[in-house]
Parts: sequence; structure tokens; C-alpha cells
Amino acid sequence: MKIVEQIKAPIIDEMETFEEKFSDSMSSKVALLNRITHYIVKRKGKQMRPMFVFLVAKMLSKTNQANDRTFRGAAVIELIHTATLVHDDVVDDSNMRRGFFSINALWKNKIAVLVGDFLLSKGLLLSIDNEDFDLLKIISVAVREMSEGELLQIEKARKLDISEEIYYEIIRQKTATLIAACCSLGAASVKPNSKDVETLRKFGELIGMAFQIKDDLFDYGDTAIGKPTGIDIKEQKMTLPLIYALNNTTEKEKNWIINSVKNHNKDKKRVKQVIQKVKDLKGLAYAEEKMIAFKAEALQILKQYPESEYRNALELMVNYVIDRKK
Ligand code: IPE
Ligand code: IPE
Ligand code: MG
Ligand code: MG
Repeated sequence: MKIVEQIKAPIIDEMETFEEKFSDSMSSKVALLNRITHYIVKRKGKQMRPMFVFLVAKMLSKTNQANDRTFRGAAVIELIHTATLVHDDVVDDSNMRRGFFSINALWKNKIAVLVGDFLLSKGLLLSIDNEDFDLLKIISVAVREMSEGELLQIEKARKLDISEEIYYEIIRQKTATLIAACCSLGAASVKPNSKDVETLRKFGELIGMAFQIKDDLFDYGDTAIGKPTGIDIKEQKMTLPLIYALNNTTEKEKNWIINSVKNHNKDKKRVKQVIQKVKDLKGLAYAEEKMIAFKAEALQILKQYPESEYRNALELMVNYVIDRKK
């Protein structure tokens, strides 16, 4: 069995029901909007976030069952994730997502901004209408942090002064927060007010850190991952491999790299040279090392829980985060 099938095996029914609910949750009376959400639903992603929600909930529930709150929570998180991707592609000026054209590429920025807002509000309303206020709080904190993380990233990209610490703060906010929310929400849906809510939040946060480092490593590769690669430098986005390279080279080379990112970031040949330099300076190896350290810390937390098919699937999932091919 393929690894993803193994992970999904204990939540196969939940994921099927989830897909229906997720698709229904986007409906609107506006035909244009329905056309676009239909396009989105047809090109689904890996759905890792709902998988985390269900696996955590089933691991913790006394009867090993997800409840209605779990299902709604999973749908809200995927709605919000989708909204942020639609917005992110506007922010990053990216024309490809999940192997197809991004929403902004097909319908232009103004429509993508509004579609993102629509999906976000649909998510929040799903919680409000069902009075899942504890879950809504978890989700709203994540949404706020994601916006802050994206803005912090832009602030730092402009100044080109980013330390490893600030990089971790950016990825914690823009990515790890939502995966942390998946795990704490999964816990809160079946065991509200338990200490597991915080324990699993931390677990998710650590996975989220590893997850974004992996995503940033993809950008340095040239394998097809369904979205553009090599665009981080073009967008003056300094990620861990580049930060490490800058901190571990001569003043002269450092100045050359910074000058390239600042003034020649649209020059494809020059960007390729920077990428090669980062590789030569062991930037990728260092980032990989850090990613593995976050993963190990996450697994350590998981080990506190008794063995079960759900815990085993979560363990596979953590490994999948860093071994995945897209
Ligand atoms: C992409 O997330 C955005 C990041 C936080 C890096 P995913 O890689 O989970 O995206 P999909 O949903 O599978 O397309
Ligand atoms: C991740 O940011 C998306 C959000 C957390 C909003 P990136 O810009 O690094 O992700 P990709 O590579 O476009 O998916
Ligand atoms: Mg981005
Ligand atoms: Mg992006």
C-alpha cells in the first residue's frame, strides 16, 4: 500500500464525508463564484490538514470516533487554507497552483482577492452558525497569525536582513500556526478543555515548521511539484538555505549574493547562479538538518500517547511531511 493510503486507512470514511461537506460549504447564489469554487474543488490538494484533524480526534476520543464538531472543524480549516492559497498566489504573483493555473492567473487579482475573502467568511460562518465558539477561537488566532506572518515576510524581504530566528518566526506564523490549529482543534472537538488541546497544538506547530522548511527546499529544486520553483529569490524571499549560506561565507561572496537578490532577482541566469552558490555553501543540507530536528521533536510528543492505529498513522504522516514529493 502506498504511504498516503496507509495514512488514510483509519480515516477513510471520514475523508469521504469530509469531501462532500467541504464542497457543499462553498455554495453561493452567484454563478461566477460557483464556477470558481467548482474549479477549486476539482483540483484538490493533499488535504493534509483535515487528515490531521481526524487522526488526532480519533486518537483521543474514548470511542475512537470523530463527531460533528470534528467534521465542521476540518471543513473550516480547509476553507481557510484554500482562502490563504488563493490570496498567497496574488501576493507572490504566482500563476500556478496544484498543477494548474492559479485563480489570479485565470480570473485576475481583483477576483482572486474577493474569492479568498468569500472562502474565509464561509469558514468562519460555519463555526458561528453551529456555535463552535471554542473552535472558532483556535481558528481565528491562526488566521490572524497567518496574516502577520505574511506581512513580516514582506517587511523582511524589503530590507533583506533576516536572521535564522526571524525566519523561524515567519514560518511559525504563516504556516505552522494553521497545522497547530488542525491538531488542537481535532483534540478540542472530542476533548474540550483538556490539556491535550495544548499538547497537540505544540505537536502540530513542530510539524508545521518542518512542513514549511520542506516547502522552501522544494523551491531550490527542479522537480515538478505543481507550483513554480525558483520563485523565492525572484520575490526576494530569503529562506533558510539562503540565510545559512549568507552567514557562512566570505564578506565578498555575501555582498555578491545580496546584490544579486536585490538588483538582479529577475535575471534568470543570475538567480540560477545564486541557487548554485547556496547549494555549494551547504544551505540545503543545513535546512534539511533543521527540518529533521523539528520532525524528531514532534515525534517525541506523539510518543506520550498510547500506541494505536491512529497514532501510527500520525507518525507516518509526520514522516510524510518531510519525505513527500510535492
Ligand atoms: C501549501 O500547502 C502552502 C504552504 C503552507 C506551504 P500544501 O502543500 O498543504 O498545499 P495543498 O493543499 O496540498 O495544495
Ligand atoms: C505559504 O507560503 C502559504 C501561506 C502560508 C499563506 P508560500 O508562498 O511559501 O507557499 P507556496 O509555496 O506558494 O505554496
Ligand atoms: Mg507566500
Ligand atoms: Mg506562495
